[in-house]
Formats: sequence, structure tokens, C-alpha cells
Amino acid sequence: MRLEGKRAIVTGGANGLGAAIARRFAVEGARVAIADIDDRAGMVSADAVATAGGQACSLRLDVTREEDWALVVADLAKRWGGIDILVNNAAIASGLTRIEDRSPEDWDRSMAINAKGPFLGTRMLLPVFRRQGGGTIVNISSVAGLGQSQIMDPAYACSKAALTMLTRITAAQHADEGVRCNSIHPGPIDSDLARIAYSDGDAFARRLLRLPLGRLAKIDEVVSAILFLASDESSYITGAALPVDGAALVQ
Ligand SMILES: NC(=O)c1ccc[n+]([C@@H]2O[C@H](COP(=O)([O-])OP(=O)(O)OC[C@H]3O[C@@H](n4cnc5c(N)ncnc54)[C@H](O)[C@@H]3O)[C@@H](O)[C@H]2O)c1
Repeated sequence: MRLEGKRAIVTGGANGLGAAIARRFAVEGARVAIADIDDRAGMVSADAVATAGGQACSLRLDVTREEDWALVVADLAKRWGGIDILVNNAAIASGLTRIEDRSPEDWDRSMAINAKGPFLGTRMLLPVFRRQGGGTIVNISSVAGLGQSQIMDPAYACSKAALTMLTRITAAQHADEGVRCNSIHPGPIDSDLARIAYSDGDAFARRLLRLPLGRLAKIDEVVSAILFLASDESSYITGAALPVDGAALVQ
């Protein structure tokens, strides 16, 4: 059990990658809070964890709202007495676009959910980690946050680049308090989000050409890397940006 005794929050844990993280963390011994704006799907995700023999609860959280974060942290303090792992996974993405086709409102929404949300979560969890003598954050960024951004939605790519820097700053400022913070940078995953982003068949074919492994990532391949960074196996790794991208970024 690689997460025996750990208590984890997974934002966006109701669907897609987040639901798979919640299941795998629970199978590895963690108690998991599925924190999502879609609380109905969150309950289904929590039931799936229970069916797999793990422990999970579903809590409603809009990552852009500070007051929601405060309620989630207070609830978990009562339920579990603390939190050891935060996975900032919730995000939105839209199809590939050019700058002039993105409205200022789209930009603000992407930044609010994909960048400000993880900032609020980090800000809320740091005092908890400090009291406990440490904790671990895994930020789910993207290859768009490191490169290949020219073929992405500009609002998505810039929000993920902000998350890459938030990771480094968190790691540098809080290492002496036992806090580790790393980011994962998946290429396209075989998921609903990728199907929306590449709904145009030509765009999908062009995307595959930029993936040396020649295929999308399987969700479990990405979850394995997240599990490693969340667990004590990566105890000397902090401030790192780990691509899980089929060599997309080294092309
Ligand atoms: N799918 C891919 O190809 C891919 C590639 C690279 C990175 N990623 C990243 O992986 C993560 C998960 O992606 P996914 O494919 O599972 O997406 P998804 O759309 O299937 O799931 C995202 C989840 O976030 C939740 N969410 C959205 N807005 C929220 C908010 N304001 N507050 C709380 N929850 C909110 C949704 O309800 C949903 O459950 C994202 O950070 C995404 O950017 C995905």
C-alpha cells in the first residue's frame, strides 16, 4: 500500500483523470475526498471507490471560490483530523483556437479555474501542512504548460504555464516546512477532454503526428506518475515538472 494512512483531496475527482486518481489512491490505502463542482458525478465516483474496496467521500467544491475551499478543509479537519495530499486536477479546456477567436471572458474563466483554483487550494492547505509538519501537492498541468503551446487554446496553455510556475514557487518557499510540490505534464490522454479538444478529425491527426509514441496516453499511465509524486517514494523530489507525454516535448 503506497499511500497507507494518507488523506487526500482530489479536485475534479468526479470525472475523467480525477476519478481514476481517486480510485487508484484509495486502492493504495488513502482516504480520498472527491472535491468537484459536479457533486452528483462526485457521488458516483465515490461509490466506485467504495466498490473497489477503498474509502472516499464526495464534497462540493468550486475551486474558484475561497469560501468553498474553507468549508472543504474544515469538513476534512473534523472527519479525518488533517490532510496529507492535495491533487489540483480540476480544469477546463476548449478546442484549439487562435488568440483573436478567444474572448476576454473565456480567458478569465480558464485562468480562474485552471490557475487561480490551484492557488486558492495551495493557500488554504499550507497552514494545515505546516501544523502537521508537511504535506504534498501534485499539480496537474499539461504539455501546454511547458511547450507545444502554439497548437493549443491560448487561454488553456497560459493557465497551465501559470500552474507550472506556481509549482516551483510553492516548492521553493515551503520546502523547509516539509511541503513538496510537483507538476505533471500529460500530453493528450484518451479521455473526454481530449475528444472535445480534438473533435475535428484533422486536428486529431495533426496532434498524433506530434506524438513520437504515436498514440494517446492511457489514463492509468498518467495516474501512475501522479501516484509516484504523491507518495513518499518521491521524498527528495520537489519543484519538478514531469512530462508524461510520449516524448511530445523533445521533438
Ligand atoms: N484529458 C487530456 O487529454 C489532458 C491532457 C493534459 C492535461 N490534462 C489535465 O488533466 C486534468 C483532468 O482532465 P480530464 O481530462 O479528466 O478533464 P474532465 O473534463 O473529464 O474532468 C475535469 C473535472 O473538473 C471538474 N471541474 C471543472 N470546473 C470545476 C470547478 N470550477 N471546480 C471544481 N471542479 C471543477 C469537472 O466537473 C470535472 O469533474 C485537467 O487539469 C486537464 O487540464 C488533461
